[in-house]
Amino acid sequence: MKILLKGGRIVDPSQNLDGKMDLMIEDGRIVEIAKEIKKKASSELKIYELPGMIVAPGLIDMHVHLREPGYEYKETILTGCEAAVAGGFTSVACMPNTAPINDNRSITEFIIRKAAECGLANVYPLAAISKDSQGVNLAEFSEMKDAGAIGLSDDGKPVTNAALMRRALEYAHSLGLPVISHCEDTALSAGGLMNEGFVATELGLRGIPNSAEDVMVARDVILAGYTGTAVHICHVSTKGAAAIIGKAKKDGIKVTAETAPHYFTLSDEALRDYDVNLKVNPPLRTEEDRTAIRAALADGTIDVIATDHAPHARTDKEVEFEYAASGMIGLETSLALGLKLVAEGVLTISQLIEKMSVNPARILNLPKGTLTVGSDADITVFDPEKLWSVDTALFRSKSKNSPFQGWQMKGKALLTIVGGDVKYSEYED
Ligand code: DOR
Ligand code: ZN
Repeated sequence: MKILLKGGRIVDPSQNLDGKMDLMIEDGRIVEIAKEIKKKASSELKIYELPGMIVAPGLIDMHVHLREPGYEYKETILTGCEAAVAGGFTSVACMPNTAPINDNRSITEFIIRKAAECGLANVYPLAAISKDSQGVNLAEFSEMKDAGAIGLSDDGKPVTNAALMRRALEYAHSLGLPVISHCEDTALSAGGLMNEGFVATELGLRGIPNSAEDVMVARDVILAGYTGTAVHICHVSTKGAAAIIGKAKKDGIKVTAETAPHYFTLSDEALRDYDVNLKVNPPLRTEEDRTAIRAALADGTIDVIATDHAPHARTDKEVEFEYAASGMIGLETSLALGLKLVAEGVLTISQLIEKMSVNPARILNLPKGTLTVGSDADITVFDPEKLWSVDTALFRSKSKNSPFQGWQMKGKALLTIVGGDVKYSEYED
């Protein structure tokens, strides 16, 4: 099946493209981009008329939790991929904190096999840095790379031992695998339920100080500089972490960073009604931090917007705040929250697409994030003006733990194409 996307605004920062153009897809690849491609619809050719729509390189979420194997009651690879394509994502990288942890070849292979059976989004497994993510011994990087792992992380937990992190950076570097670091000093965060500050004091909830994140970001930046290797910092939430990363970049250290939509959208003030869906790690910070994160996105200190999509079932969440699991889903709200940054003048549309597609592809060494002729036809078409309201009951994700329930959103993916095949469509076919 050939597909012709007509009359949309093609925005592809990877080749500095922004304008009204047509795009032709054949045999899974992009074969032509031109001002006007004249063709007639037939049984062989599907034509989409896309006035007012944005046609972008397929969005890539480099930080999701698909929960399979082990926690299929929260999410499966299938439901996670359904949520991904509905949210406009053509590729996701999934964290290894499943049960068992993805710290070996067989789990990596299992994830790849399952994802292929689903045939929706591309799924790229991230494998554990340490065996069982226990932070004691390194996992077998080379074996997991052979099986298809594209990067390493102990996400959910930090690598507490600095010497182990140093070895991980060196070994991963020799294999060309990116290391993705969950930065948390657990001695500082221990027992904390939300951000440490006025709101936590007023609510009587134990706080997690910004320093719990900042100290670890500083350590990882120092280790990356010392070893001359790259490190990617997960879910940056503090002003201090952004400042450390910004300075490290100026000093030529190979550090990249991501933040999640909740950190640039919400602050700890939102927790006043004790919504357990707002419990997340790292926690929602102060308005001052939120402002700093937005500035760090604007000036390029933060390279990537990734959701940290963390599905949890009602039984994990509907308990006392103290016992509730941390995390929120994000795949189906991320694009709209990113477009809010554009509406508010923080990012241009092109910068948003860089952070949601081009940069994640570069950091993960994926041949994606571009609409260049000859590349895989992974494409997201979205309506930047479409108004909709969040109803988690309609979400594809198996878990419904979104704090954005009921929010009015502007901007929605309408067509998600992966490898030349339509995997999600709001058009009548
Ligand atoms: O809130 C979080 N949830 N933070 C993490 O680092 C892990 C994640 C999860 O796996 O639920
Ligand atoms: Zn994490």
